[in-house]
Amino acid sequence: MEVIRVEGGHPLGGEVHVEGAKNSALKLMAASILAPGETTLTNVPDIADVHVMGKVLKRLGATIEVVDAHTLKIDASVVNKWETPYDLVVQMRASTAVLGPLLARFGRAVVAMPGGCNIGARKIDMHILGLEALGVHFEVDHGNIYASAPNGLVGSAVTLDFASVGATENLLMASVHAKGTTTIDNAAREPEIVDLANMLNEMGACVRGAGSPVIEVRGTSEELHPVTHATVGDRIEAGTFIAMAALTGDEVTVSGFDPVHLGLVLRKYEQMGIQIERDATSCVVRRDAPLRSVDIQTLPFPGFPTDMQAQTMCLLALADGNCIVTENVFENRFIFASELKRMGADITIEGHHAIVHGVSRFSGAQVKSPDLRGGAALVMAGLVADGETTVSDIHHIDRGYECFVEKLQGIGAKVERTEVPDFEL
Ligand code: UD1
Repeated sequence: MEVIRVEGGHPLGGEVHVEGAKNSALKLMAASILAPGETTLTNVPDIADVHVMGKVLKRLGATIEVVDAHTLKIDASVVNKWETPYDLVVQMRASTAVLGPLLARFGRAVVAMPGGCNIGARKIDMHILGLEALGVHFEVDHGNIYASAPNGLVGSAVTLDFASVGATENLLMASVHAKGTTTIDNAAREPEIVDLANMLNEMGACVRGAGSPVIEVRGTSEELHPVTHATVGDRIEAGTFIAMAALTGDEVTVSGFDPVHLGLVLRKYEQMGIQIERDATSCVVRRDAPLRSVDIQTLPFPGFPTDMQAQTMCLLALADGNCIVTENVFENRFIFASELKRMGADITIEGHHAIVHGVSRFSGAQVKSPDLRGGAALVMAGLVADGETTVSDIHHIDRGYECFVEKLQGIGAKVERTEVPDFEL
C-alpha cells in the first residue's frame, strides 16, 4: 500500500500556489450539462474527485477533452442518459450534483441513494424537499432515486432547514428553466456558490443574490449556452498550507486564492499569535511567538469552515492553554482527533465538542487518514513531530489535494510517498 512518510523538524519556506477549488469545479462540471455544446473550464484541479465527476458526465453521454492538466472541454450536446449509478456515488457523494441540471434540461434523473460515510450520514432530504416544492416527483426503488418533472419545473419559495451547500447548488441548477421565480431562503453563502451562480449567469440564466442568504432565480425558457469559466481558487487548500506554516512558524507565501474567502479562519489564526499579511490573491504567513488557544465552532460560511477544523485542531493541540472545538456541520468529524492522540495530543471528545489541552510536542507515529482534511492534518502534524510519521489511507488526500507531497517538498518539507507492504502497518 502507498503511504506518506514525513520526517519532522525541517523548516518550511518559499511559496506554494493553490489550484482551483475542488468544491467549485465539481459543481461547474455538473452545470455544463445545462448547455448543449462545449463548455471550457479552466483552473480545474487535477484530483481524484474531478476524475470521478468526469466519469459521471461520460456515463451520461457527455464527452470530455483534457486540454491540459487544468483545462477541460466538456461537450454536453449528446447527453442522452439520466442515470448516475451507485459505483460512482459511493466513490464521491458530490456525484448527486447532476440531479439539478438533469432535471432542468431533461425533466428526469436517476441518482443512486448515497449511504453513510466517514464524516457522517450526509443526507439529501433537503435536496429532495426543495425539488419537490418545484414540482419534481420522487420515487425510491432498489437503492435509486427516480426524479421526474414531465411538465417542467415550476418556480417556488423554498426555505432550507440548514444552509446546505449541496442542496443550494442542486436547487440553483434545477430552477434555471423553471416557470416563474424560485427563491431559496437560508441558502448557503460559500464562495463556491457564488462561483456557480456566476457561471450560470454567464450561460444565460438569471440568478440574483448568490453569496447572501436569499437567492432568487428567474426561470428562462431560452436554452443556456456554453461558456469558458475559470474556477475560483481553493480556499481550503490555501488554508491547509497556511495552517502548516503557522504550525512550523516559518515564513511561507500561499498564493492563488482570495484571502477574503478565509476571513474568519485568518482572524482566529491572528488571535492565536500567527502573523498574516494579505493581498488580493495571496497571504504571507509567519509566527515568532508561541501559539495561543482559542475556541472555534464550525458553521456554514461566513462561519468557520468544517473543512478547516482538523488542520486547526492540530494547531490548537500544540497551543498554550485549553480550548473547545465545536463541530456543528458534520457528525463523526472528530475521528482525526483519535489519530492525533496517537501522536501525543491531549483531546477529549464530548459529543460534538472536543476539549483540547495544549501539549508541548507531538511524537511521530503510524496513523491512518480518516478522511480528506483529517489526512492532510496528520501529514501536517508530522512536520513538527519528533521522528518519522507514516500516514496510510492516503487515497482520501488524493481526492482533494493536487501534488500534495510535491508542493510540500517545494517549500522544504521532508516528505515522500512510498509503497510499504501491508504487514508493516
Ligand atoms: C459541501 C462540501 C464539503 C463541506 C460542506 C460544508 C462539496 C463537494 N463538499 O458538502 O467539503 O464540508 O459542503 O461546507 O462541495 N444535510 C442534511 N440534509 C441534506 C443536505 C445536508 O441533513 O439534504 C446535512 C449534512 O448531512 C451535513 C450538513 O447538512 O451534516 C451540511 O451539509 P452540506 O452543506 O450539504 O454539505 P455538502 O454539500 O455535502
